[in-house]
Amino acid sequence: MHITIVGSGYVGLVAGACFADMGHQVILVDNDQQKLDALNKGQVPIHEKFLPELLDRHRGRSLTFSDDLRSAVQASAAVFIAVGTPPTEQGEADLSYVESVARIIPSAINSYKVVVEKSTVPVYTSDWIRKIILRNAAPPDSFDVASNPEFLREGTAVTDFLYPDRIVVGADTERCASILRAIYAPLTDGSYYQRQDAIPRPDRAQTPPPLIITSTKSAELIKHACNAFLAMKISFINAVASMCESVGANVQQVCQGIGSDSRIGPRFLNPGIGYGGSCFPKDLMAFRAVARECGYEFRLLDEVMRINEDQRRRFVRKVHDALWTLRGKRLGVLGLAFKGGTDDIRESPAVLLVQTLLQEGCKIAAYDPAANERAREVLNASIEYAADAYEAASGADALLILTEWEEFASLDLDRLHQQLKYPIVIDGRNLYDPGTMAARGFTYYSVGRPVATSETLPLQEGAGAKKAIRS
Ligand code: UDX
Ligand code: UDX
Repeated sequence: MHITIVGSGYVGLVAGACFADMGHQVILVDNDQQKLDALNKGQVPIHEKFLPELLDRHRGRSLTFSDDLRSAVQASAAVFIAVGTPPTEQGEADLSYVESVARIIPSAINSYKVVVEKSTVPVYTSDWIRKIILRNAAPPDSFDVASNPEFLREGTAVTDFLYPDRIVVGADTERCASILRAIYAPLTDGSYYQRQDAIPRPDRAQTPPPLIITSTKSAELIKHACNAFLAMKISFINAVASMCESVGANVQQVCQGIGSDSRIGPRFLNPGIGYGGSCFPKDLMAFRAVARECGYEFRLLDEVMRINEDQRRRFVRKVHDALWTLRGKRLGVLGLAFKGGTDDIRESPAVLLVQTLLQEGCKIAAYDPAANERAREVLNASIEYAADAYEAASGADALLILTEWEEFASLDLDRLHQQLKYPIVIDGRNLYDPGTMAARGFTYYSVGRPVATSETLPLQEGAGAKKAIRS
């Protein structure tokens, strides 16, 4: 199948590389010439596992890069739109990039085309894309507009794409649905997974994945509703964690108890410093805006967002609790990316916290395995950038863990203890067992669990409660 993907950002680039690996002929179109030059030279603009291998495998063969949208559309049966949909000041999705792509497509229609929304867009967008294409003189039966939302997470984007829980296709005609069915056939018929050179299957993957066909409007809603539900799950557990802190309970035990109910499930129940990233914050605002436009006030989403912001404030209070005054204090910070496994710092709660702590007069030395460079573009020289976790901890009044990178969960605790001026760790991601940290001589604060110090050994459930209530 010949496919064009417009937009070579996180979603477009991963989708393009994966479609090529599934055996399709893909043209990735972007209007950023520098990005295209970099991709053609073999550079990989984002930190994403397996992406370099896939680009090496297919670059210049079944995956080419171009700035010529018209020629690409002419050569393709399906055109996926994966340009950004950033939030406007009012929190709506800015669809002007999507519209500008839709305006160019009609002049290139030389045979039946399926135009597919891959970007996250509000529920009425497929109607608008159709109207714009018709307005620019394309015959009504020469194209269809479909929605094929993407559920990939940064850091595991390639395996999320190739081993999805499900594939959602919103298509209003059988002709259009059959093209998308054919595109995904290597996954749905299992043939991709038989290949020797297939990207390895992650633990949890069920193969082959089901393909769910819906109307385009339902598919558009599925994407927003899915992200909103996941964000709600995180805010819910963060609210429960706050209660645990007040009463001296342990949120980890609570999670085990509720997550093992198969109706709830254990995933996306990790409390922390709140969700961030390029999707959840923007998609929640956009979903609320769409609901309002449809005459429904989705107040639940307001509360999900409020709890999320509050979670950062609570963390800063925890730093105060541990250190009393902040002016002039030196803090080691582990993690700047919005989550582990990525170099993306968009809406990163870690960066937002660093900015707040700088305003409070702290001095910060931070380390992130992949995001130091990107963070430097935002934080400039306001902090020091350490070469590893131990350098960040060196001489610090306390160490803050802000991103759930795997390598932060297996630090050499004796070495860390030696580096710190005071052995205080404030963990916003619950990477360590409080009892272990106390036994190794640390005063250890985490989220929704009692504060652990060597005096609290053996670990008593109520130990942190008084402190939490006082704060
Ligand atoms: C995507 C989706 O588009 C967004 O809706 C979803 O919520 C998250 O994932 P992402 O891939 O992260 O966004 O976007 P970004 O990294 O900004 O990439 C967009 C690409 O489109 C850029 O390379 C940009 O140069 C390109 N672009 C943008 C075009 O080629 N044409 C345009 O008119 C606008
Ligand atoms: C999300 C969706 O998961 C994905 O399906 C969609 O396509 C894009 O948006 P992503 O933003 O890459 O993916 O990251 P995700 O793993 O969902 O994490 C989002 C944020 O929530 C991160 O800041 C993460 O640290 C936080 N999070 C996640 C928690 O705080 N607790 C959890 O249990 C899970």
